[in-house]
Amino acid sequence: MKKLIKNAKIANESEVFEADILIDGDKISEIGKGIEAGDAEIIDAAGCYVIPGAVDVHTHMDLDVGFARAIDDFYDGTVAAACGGTTTIVDHMAFGPKDCSLWHQTNEYHRLADNNAVIDYGFHGVLQHPVTEQTLAEMKEIKEKEGINSFKLYMTYDYKLEDDEIFNVLRAAREAGIVITVHCENHGVIQQLRKEFAEEGKTEAKYHPLSRPDRCEAEAVNRMVNIAAMAGDAPLYIVHLTSNEGLKEVQKAKREGQKRFAAETCIQYLVLNDSAYDDPQEGLKAIMSPPLRKDADREALWQALKDGDVDTVATDHCPFHFKEGKAEKQYGKDDFTKCPNGAPGVQERLMLLFSEGFMKGRLTLPQVVKYASSNPSRMFGLFPQKGSLEPGADADLVIIDPNKKTEINREYIKGASDYSCYEGMTLEGRIEKVLQRGNVIVSDGEFKGSRGDGQYLKRGESCLSK
Ligand code: URP
Ligand code: ZN
Repeated sequence: MKKLIKNAKIANESEVFEADILIDGDKISEIGKGIEAGDAEIIDAAGCYVIPGAVDVHTHMDLDVGFARAIDDFYDGTVAAACGGTTTIVDHMAFGPKDCSLWHQTNEYHRLADNNAVIDYGFHGVLQHPVTEQTLAEMKEIKEKEGINSFKLYMTYDYKLEDDEIFNVLRAAREAGIVITVHCENHGVIQQLRKEFAEEGKTEAKYHPLSRPDRCEAEAVNRMVNIAAMAGDAPLYIVHLTSNEGLKEVQKAKREGQKRFAAETCIQYLVLNDSAYDDPQEGLKAIMSPPLRKDADREALWQALKDGDVDTVATDHCPFHFKEGKAEKQYGKDDFTKCPNGAPGVQERLMLLFSEGFMKGRLTLPQVVKYASSNPSRMFGLFPQKGSLEPGADADLVIIDPNKKTEINREYIKGASDYSCYEGMTLEGRIEKVLQRGNVIVSDGEFKGSRGDGQYLKRGESCLSK
């Protein structure tokens, strides 16, 4: 069955232009003015923008952190994603049992996602201490067999890698064309500050950001880019950059010619600030690591997107209930260190970027497309199948009416979460329709797809590993 999107203002990562889009089955077959296709179903997009389906390369569906489990499984979380215009995710695996093979979590994530996800999905592998020869061999094997071209390591938390392991991983990744994604925070300083705050009875939410200062991020980013350089310019992707201090390290590395290197920020670090922690109760909603920062950091990150110094905007979507169900966020009510880290965002990201970025004049619409769709797709080996509007690409697209508004309230929330960090905001623009591989999966705010419609994506080469 063909579909013809008429009168669209199409935005890709380089321009906005008026044309029609012909979809044949699951692919875009033609883009041009005045396309005639007698047998096609017509979708009139007059007055609307049509952009590529958004690609969120940092989610944590069903994340098991031992004492709590993220409440969006691959069904609920991808329904929320779809309703927010995201048609592809690349999800970060949780740590597995001590000493497990890399295959353990790969198999577990297929069990969690297959036949549940409603949008297309891939996984980033996870590396945990200790790293052995077998780990490095499995990383290569999993890339070849599963199309998993990226693995994450942590510089903090219990399974963090030591510098010698990081160096070995990066050399092996360089050799195998694998991207290493990294959570950059200095573990030692954080542990010491948390200990001191505990001893002084400073256990409210407002001490969470104080226990993880921006310099912890900057030091870890600096260490990572230097180790990656020593590993032969190994492909490196910094996840969730939050601070101006961290950004300075990113800019320095880029200026000095590190080529296989990219940095992601997340929507919360652009839109929210650390005043979210002022109220001891409400503050629990925004306990995530790294924490929210100051307005000066937000502004620096917006500027970096404008200048092209940051490469992608993701979410780190990882929701827990605040008051309902097991109310996992309340585990931190007497001690912020007991609160599971993470917050929802997969539904809100695209329209926040559209409204706060494009409609407020901070970014152009092609920049929104670049950071929400094209670059994430390119960095993780999905481009141009995903994140582009061109003949031959998957017909994943979002139709947005810029003259309507989106109220973020309880009715808006489509995931399992009982809150949004953006509740009360009114966004400029509203999603009219979302198409995934030619099928309308969201119309007028309602999900129209089915459980299991998402396809697993074996990913190709990343632009960072070339
Ligand atoms: O607070 C966060 N980011 N939670 C998700 C797990 C992680 O640290 O990536
Ligand atoms: Zn994360």
